[in-house]
Amino acid sequence: MSRFEITGKTPIRGEISVQGAKNAVLPILAATIMTEDACVIENCPDLRDVDKTVLVLKGLGCDVRRSGHTVTVLGDGLCDCEVCETLMRQMRSSIIFLGAILTRCKNAVLSMPGGCPIGQRPIDLHLKALRRLGVDVREEHGFMYCRADKITGADIHLDFPSVGATENIMLASVTAEGVTTVSNAAREPEIADLARFLNSMGARIEGAGESVIRIEGVKKLHGTRYRVMPDRIVAATYLIAGAITGGDMTVCDVEPGNMKAVCDALAFMGAPLKVGNDSVHISGRNRLKAVDFIRTMPYPGFPTDIQSPFMSLLAVADGTSIVVENIFENRYRHVDELVRMGADIKVSGKTAVIKGVKELYGATVRARELRGGAALVLAGLCADGETTVENTEYIDRGYERMEDCLSLCGARIRRVDQRR
Ligand code: UD1
Repeated sequence: MSRFEITGKTPIRGEISVQGAKNAVLPILAATIMTEDACVIENCPDLRDVDKTVLVLKGLGCDVRRSGHTVTVLGDGLCDCEVCETLMRQMRSSIIFLGAILTRCKNAVLSMPGGCPIGQRPIDLHLKALRRLGVDVREEHGFMYCRADKITGADIHLDFPSVGATENIMLASVTAEGVTTVSNAAREPEIADLARFLNSMGARIEGAGESVIRIEGVKKLHGTRYRVMPDRIVAATYLIAGAITGGDMTVCDVEPGNMKAVCDALAFMGAPLKVGNDSVHISGRNRLKAVDFIRTMPYPGFPTDIQSPFMSLLAVADGTSIVVENIFENRYRHVDELVRMGADIKVSGKTAVIKGVKELYGATVRARELRGGAALVLAGLCADGETTVENTEYIDRGYERMEDCLSLCGARIRRVDQRR
């Protein structure tokens, strides 16, 4: 267990080169098992969730080598089609292995994912879609036993544009017989990144990143070398760090086109932004004004993953803001902790009303999930006095050495206790 100790009220000034995207690299790593050849993945962030994914790959029999930010996976020794139950429980996104294992082995056994801190996260859409592709799914004693002697292309309409379900369909159908179309597909940039990776392995996917995706089954996939896209959520978090401390922050190596909803909201609040080809700069000397209304939506709407970090900024904005969380039912777990730091926030169901206060004060607070944990660090950076954020393990799931990135920009933050 470790914690961050933060001394607030220091403007964050500098440049951060943003890590590879967690939500892109996890499905990409899962997809590497779909060939016996080597896949070399570059720009792979050093995160707890990546460590866990590597353990899943090794458990399935793959040879995995890591060197800096490059991960090489050799899947010729794959000998198991079952994801370890403990890892499945620790990382719900392991569900993404379902489509990949089915493509490679025709059989897959995964434990049913339970609830998680941000909500129930059912997988009904994944299973319904796989059944449409001809997969036989049995759910027994907390496990899913999936079998598909032949996967056949189908027209699949998603009732909701689920990111994970869209990815699982792509993974399961790349070598299917015939053509698969997915309508009302998720349009998140990470879906397009996964498709680019699969196409570099020989897949034929068109339309990823749009709401209709067409996948023409191919016979076989081959090895590849691929560079993971930058993390738009991490980039947005560090921009907020600049804004909340009245600093001057540039996030580099990003794709600003993916960050439009967040940049628009920051601009609305009065933050001076300069958007370059692969960078965004923010300076935030004045107190920003509240937003009327933010509601989280599937991409290109305002991302649920940035809702909690953004709320820390709204907590010190001038005026009252309203936030509606439409994606996950339990994504306000940071609110009580922000209130401990002096924020004035009331939650009723999906809606949070945030009355901006002039100043937050330092306190001991506890991260309860990844993005909520990042929100507490941001609050600590602008608070008066000392803030301790406990349970940094959650933050390490998605942010590579956050304390080092922020310290290099002048933040007074240190990690106490053992690192992972
Ligand atoms: C992914 C991201 C996560 C992000 C989320 C929404 C990864 C590893 N994680 O999660 O960071 O917050 O997208 O942008 O990429 N749902 C169902 N049935 C299903 C599947 C989903 O009801 O079968 C519901 C979920 O409960 C949730 C909503 O759909 O309310 C969105 O979930 P989904 O888009 O699937 O998110 P994830 O892929 O789990």
